Amino acid sequence: MEQRQGKVILTGDRPTGRLHLGHYIGSLARRVQLQNEGDFDKMFVFMADVQALTDNAENPEKIRQNIAEVALDYLAAGINPDICTLFIQSQIPELAELTTYLMNIISVSRVQRNPTVKTELKMRNFEGGTPLGFFCYPVSQAADITLFKATTVPAGEDQEPMLEVTRELVRRFNQVYAPILVEPQILLPENATARRLPGTDGKEKMSKSLGNCIYLSDSADEVWQKVRSMFTDPDHLRVDDPGKVEGNAVFTYLDAFATDEDFANFWPDYANLDELKAHYQRGGLGDMKCKKFLYQVIEKFLAPMRERRHEYEKDIPEIFNILKRGSEKARETAAQTMQEVRHAMRIDYFEDKELIQQLSEKFKK
Ligand code: TRP
Repeated sequence: MEQRQGKVILTGDRPTGRLHLGHYIGSLARRVQLQNEGDFDKMFVFMADVQALTDNAENPEKIRQNIAEVALDYLAAGINPDICTLFIQSQIPELAELTTYLMNIISVSRVQRNPTVKTELKMRNFEGGTPLGFFCYPVSQAADITLFKATTVPAGEDQEPMLEVTRELVRRFNQVYAPILVEPQILLPENATARRLPGTDGKEKMSKSLGNCIYLSDSADEVWQKVRSMFTDPDHLRVDDPGKVEGNAVFTYLDAFATDEDFANFWPDYANLDELKAHYQRGGLGDMKCKKFLYQVIEKFLAPMRERRHEYEKDIPEIFNILKRGSEKARETAAQTMQEVRHAMRIDYFEDKELIQQLSEKFKK
């Protein structure tokens, strides 16, 4: 018997650093939009500290410090803890419990095939071998998703392999035990530039380790300094030279962020980005003008976020209260699912009257 489920949205981030524009355009803005549209039964956003520890075992302090940073970024971006349950992964012991059982119904080679894990292993280059917990994190992530019976997981393309593993585990669990877990779908960013925002240096991805990020919490001055020194077209030396927009980070960012309304407000010389690009490509348009515009476009949403963040920063104990309440609430759902899981697996011995009866008969003979 398939149980009908409502829409449950769930997603999270590893709390290893402050969130940046790549996070914002890639998923955070979408989450806020989904939250405000209200078309769901439940919505969860969480800090994946357990997952962050899989490759930071020796550095828990980094995770500890970043819990509040990420929470502040969420709240500043408009996540409303009254609508959306905000929680911390490690505070839900049921996640570890479900992970353990899921590990029994997936093979080592299946986990090894995961392209995201493969890339990460290359990047991390663990001394002394791959930590087992790191290797298993796709299974732990499947537990994150299934424990809450999430139907919809807003995330970047790189998370698709995790969702595939999750769906496989759901099917296997439901087939072996009982149909109680739910197959989730990934919800990818709508437009292509949102899927992977390059760094300010034009490199493939915004990443803390490359030092090419604009953080949501950067000051206006920091944002301007970063935009001012952004990578453009290295052959565009004089204003009169024709410029290239492909691979030009300023234009990639404008693709991601600039609206026609921004042109009307900040740069009415052009009706839209196509007109601006055409002028740049023809020659006669300097980088600095484009950068000033980009700065205004970004500041339009960063400035209010920065202000909200400063408000929240004044009451850090309240941030932890929000996370504590969220974690307690998340645990209610978690406990409910775990009860069903234990029953499906028939390991709910103390509730299992049938087993007790059966064994009583057996030993009477
Ligand atoms: N792996 C995700 C990331 O690196 C974080 C994450 C952990 C997650 N568990 C999740 C995302 C469950 C979506 C759903 O960003």
